[in-house]
Amino acid sequence: MPITDNSKHVDFSQAVLNWFETHGRKNLPWQLKPNPYRVWISEIMLQQTQVTTVIPYYENFMQNFPDIKQLALADEDKVLHHWTGLGYYARARNLHKTAKIIYHEHHGVLPSTLDELVELPGIGKSTAGAIMALADDKYAVILDGNVKRVLCRYHCVKGWPGQSDTQKQLWQLAERHTPSSNCRSYTQAMMDLGATLCTRTKPSCSVCPLQQGCEAYLTQKTTEFPYKKIKKKLPVKTTQMLILHDKSGEKVLLEKRPPSGIWGGLWSFPEIQVNDSISGYLQKYGFVINAQTMPWNDIHHTFSHYHLNIKPQILWLAKEPILIMEKPDWHWYDLNSPTELGLAAPVKTLLKQLVNQS
Ligand code: ADE
Repeated sequence: MPITDNSKHVDFSQAVLNWFETHGRKNLPWQLKPNPYRVWISEIMLQQTQVTTVIPYYENFMQNFPDIKQLALADEDKVLHHWTGLGYYARARNLHKTAKIIYHEHHGVLPSTLDELVELPGIGKSTAGAIMALADDKYAVILDGNVKRVLCRYHCVKGWPGQSDTQKQLWQLAERHTPSSNCRSYTQAMMDLGATLCTRTKPSCSVCPLQQGCEAYLTQKTTEFPYKKIKKKLPVKTTQMLILHDKSGEKVLLEKRPPSGIWGGLWSFPEIQVNDSISGYLQKYGFVINAQTMPWNDIHHTFSHYHLNIKPQILWLAKEPILIMEKPDWHWYDLNSPTELGLAAPVKTLLKQLVNQS
């Protein structure tokens, strides 16, 4: 149950709600005609991604998958295709899985309780809270990155917010501040306040409605909070991507990656290790080439846990591949008439380069 009998906490939520009236965002696409499906999709896209990046993806996704049924019955390749460029593809795979569960096991309706929502793939406690509050104006508590930053500063919370004891403390504070009514406005207000005023660097404390109670502001320590994660230097890995043109030069070979791991379920160029020979790969699949042109410049891609250095190798087949060597997870991608597939971000870049050159 929400705690509302502490005047300091009522002041906090009231100040946030008053600020929202004049300064909050009220015309984001997912705020127009909100329903649990629309809010769910937006919340998943907004994890780790800025609002301005999300908007065009969101609108496109809604046009292609306007409701749970359309998403549940769609091909995974099509879903990943419309996610291409947003990154963190496990989000899209979970979205698709969850849509199927809701369609087949919940009569196509998103569950309405926190306990049921958090059972679904990809929906954590904060996302479940956001769906309940933003879609149905129900009492629910959220603790996303924006809210964490506001609370860490307001209460001078020591410890990196990703650490479990700090998380626990932050959830308690979030619960204490969440009002029992007006949860939709309060939730959106906290997200907006975190995104527009209580920013990571240079927060706009002079216009913040929480200034008078903010411990970090009052002690001039806003830059100290939230505590940062101790950074580890990321390892660098190198790979070769084989851009293998068919005899006509109009198609290139892509292969579907395994369902889990990096770029899980997405289509990519065949890869070999940096010390492996290209001829070994060609022999294995019976490919005969008539040219290998200058390799392109390396492409650098950073994942959360390592940097990847990609060496694109450009190859041209002398004759059509033997059909019996074809694997089911291969696709000869037509550069002039591309199929809708989910593509790893550097692959999308390389394909654009290929189209521009052809
Ligand atoms: N970040 C996560 N959810 C959001 C929302 N509903 N509006 C703006 N930013 C968000």
